[in-house]
Amino acid sequence: MRAYDIIYKKREGKKLSEEEISFLIKGYVNNEIPDYQLSAWAMAVFFQGMDAEETAHLTMSMARSGDMIDLSPIKGVKVDKHSTGGVGDTTTLVLAPLVAAAGIPVAKMSGRGLGHTGGTIDKLEAISNFNTSLSREDFINNVNQYGVAVVGQTGNLTPADKKLYSLRDVTATVDSIPLIASSIMSKKIAGGADGIVLDVKIGSGAFMKEISGARELARTMVDIGNEVGRKTRAVITDMNQPLGFAVGNALEVKEAIATLQGKGPADLTELCLTLGANMLYLAGNEQSTEKARTILEKKLNDGSALNKFKELIIAQGGDAAVIDNPELLATADLQIELKSEKAGYISEINALEVGLTAMLLGAGRETKDDNIKMDVGIMLNKKYGDQVKAGEVLATLHLDNNEIVDQAKERLRNSFSITDEKQVKRPLIYEIID
Ligand code: URA
Ligand code: CA
Repeated sequence: MRAYDIIYKKREGKKLSEEEISFLIKGYVNNEIPDYQLSAWAMAVFFQGMDAEETAHLTMSMARSGDMIDLSPIKGVKVDKHSTGGVGDTTTLVLAPLVAAAGIPVAKMSGRGLGHTGGTIDKLEAISNFNTSLSREDFINNVNQYGVAVVGQTGNLTPADKKLYSLRDVTATVDSIPLIASSIMSKKIAGGADGIVLDVKIGSGAFMKEISGARELARTMVDIGNEVGRKTRAVITDMNQPLGFAVGNALEVKEAIATLQGKGPADLTELCLTLGANMLYLAGNEQSTEKARTILEKKLNDGSALNKFKELIIAQGGDAAVIDNPELLATADLQIELKSEKAGYISEINALEVGLTAMLLGAGRETKDDNIKMDVGIMLNKKYGDQVKAGEVLATLHLDNNEIVDQAKERLRNSFSITDEKQVKRPLIYEIID
């Protein structure tokens, strides 16, 4: 077999076999096939696409390129959740303890933030001494004992995806649905979950700006999961504005605690209940998502979800006093209010711009090795559709550097649009695909 022939075949719009795809991926990981041939192939895929079978083969080739994690020592059906990335997406901090409180084992491997999107692992590290790098053994033991563990990615998971993703990043081949779908699903499958709930975001802060693209991406990932024996569902959700009010590491931990107390923002609470209900349903514990949702509502209201978060923090060495005293979390020196210059209705809070403002404050990283600040961020005071008076606070900047106040205020102000007309309500949950 020759890489040339495989590139040529795809360029001509023909279907690749499992052997051909596997040859390409193995050769690439082993440095036998050079970057330039994979680049040409990725561009051919970008233009010609891949069918469901090819996409599934690509996914499995990448999943098998490194460690395949075996979660079978954990009792019960393991259901994972994955978000395609957003701004102020505090979901996992709430969802992991919430679903665990309902008796579903949560063995969660999460990422760090990159670019304008935050990462769960960074947020958890805003809690003093919280250890996100448990050994594989401790990870499994914790899930068996406490029902939940959240760690960063360890070991050699999907090296093919790491290499191919970096290549796509510099060859204008990121936004290809089969390539995105196989990239995400290869990591989830290698991570060992029996079931996968995907949160596919659309809007200004997301990869997919339109419902049609999101639907196709969601459908492709659900088909891959089901084809390889992992029960998979996707929920298409709004990322036209940040989720909840808090954007920033410690601020989002506070928001998660409030949400687990049943006092969280409406959108974050709703998203967690919807994703969680689908996780319970896939785990086979409930006959319907409606029933599952009722159970989760009860876990929020009776304090057991919050209690599970406390257990999780203690189990991973963190300071659980933050549950009762969230003010123990790091607080930025400066809190600067951004006030509205005019009266009207909020017609946009551009999620990408808010995310970039948070980066400017130091909450995120531009490269993998950047240090990030735990205490800085943005607290929104208004959301899409809200009425606002002139002089009313739109948001508060939390920062520790006097020199960037004006720049940060300007950037944040530009993420808001205010109009005279009342806005039509936008859905948070667009569709569920299974
Ligand atoms: N997230 C991923 O993990 N891979 C992609 O290709 C796009 C988003
Ligand atoms: Ca948030």
